[in-house]
Amino acid sequence: MRILSGIQPSGVPHIGNYFGMMQQAFELQQQGEAFLFIADYHALTTSPNPEELRKRTIELAINYLACGLDPKRTVFFRQSDVPQVCELTWILNNMATVGLLERAHSYKDKLAKGFMPNNGLFSYPVLMAADILIYKSDVVPVGRDQKQHVEITRDLAIRFNTTYGDILTIPKSKILDHVAIIPGTDGQKMSKSYNNTIPIFDSKKAIRKAVMNIVTDCKGLEEPKDPENCNVVALYKLFAGEQQLAEMKAKYRAGNYGYGHAKQELFELMWEFFAPMRQKREELENNLDYVWETLRRGGEKARAAAEETMNEVRLAVGLR
Ligand code: ADP
Ligand code: TRP
Repeated sequence: MRILSGIQPSGVPHIGNYFGMMQQAFELQQQGEAFLFIADYHALTTSPNPEELRKRTIELAINYLACGLDPKRTVFFRQSDVPQVCELTWILNNMATVGLLERAHSYKDKLAKGFMPNNGLFSYPVLMAADILIYKSDVVPVGRDQKQHVEITRDLAIRFNTTYGDILTIPKSKILDHVAIIPGTDGQKMSKSYNNTIPIFDSKKAIRKAVMNIVTDCKGLEEPKDPENCNVVALYKLFAGEQQLAEMKAKYRAGNYGYGHAKQELFELMWEFFAPMRQKREELENNLDYVWETLRRGGEKARAAAEETMNEVRLAVGLR
């Protein structure tokens, strides 16, 4: 079974990304043949700064490798190391009606936000379909927001197979719905766009500051507090064992335990949790050649798989 997913290179990772996305990606390594790529072609639809794109790409690679991606188990690569996906995109463009693409939620959302859409943004789902189909992927784990794109992919694959013969594998999405939404420092979903994130990798001072900014009610030190409706406890849960969690809840209920104390405990536990990853990250930062080489090797494997599919596709459509 081939499992494939793509990740947009989108800046400093926070603990919402870690528990909501990275951990799932690492679990996939156990379940089948995993392909994971950095969607740098897709990033061009919104991020036209070349230096920034290169920086984000390498940063993403470093962060995933530091947090547990094993390149021996996962084919980890840059989307643009397989330019064949652009060739397949062109072929699939001829299977995609304008109406189908106009119905894509992500496109409609961008329009509603007043973006002037370019053709890249409009045909984003076709490139995504090519990403999936070129590796004959069986399963595509994605967030709910990407489900429709996988449905469009299935549509295009069926149309292609009906026209040219059974060449493409019809993929299934695997919606990562079981993943809890990690709350940010203000209790809303943690997200860069809400400015409520706690970064995984930053200075001790900056992370501590983010933790200390977690919003709580204004009960005084002596007063008993409700652990079930507290942003600090909600985040502490992610890192604490059962016993530790029960102890914190008991302290809340007993009183004489302030939010400052709870935040300090959360900060210490979190700092310790990410310590091995911080160390690995530092090693990788000092060995960028290894990181680029890892991506290059992943790209080579991915290209070989893509080229096999493309040989069949070119022949089928009359380009050979
Ligand atoms: P942001 O909302 O900060 O821009 P991204 O959209 O870059 O985050 O998130 C990348 C992935 O990380 C998403 O596909 C999602 O699965 C996961 N993720 C992000 N924030 C959270 C969160 N608060 N809770 C759970 N998962 C999250
Ligand atoms: N569109 C996806 C996102 O924004 C990233 C992506 C690009 C992707 N190509 C893919 C995900 C192929 C899964 C499969 O999150």
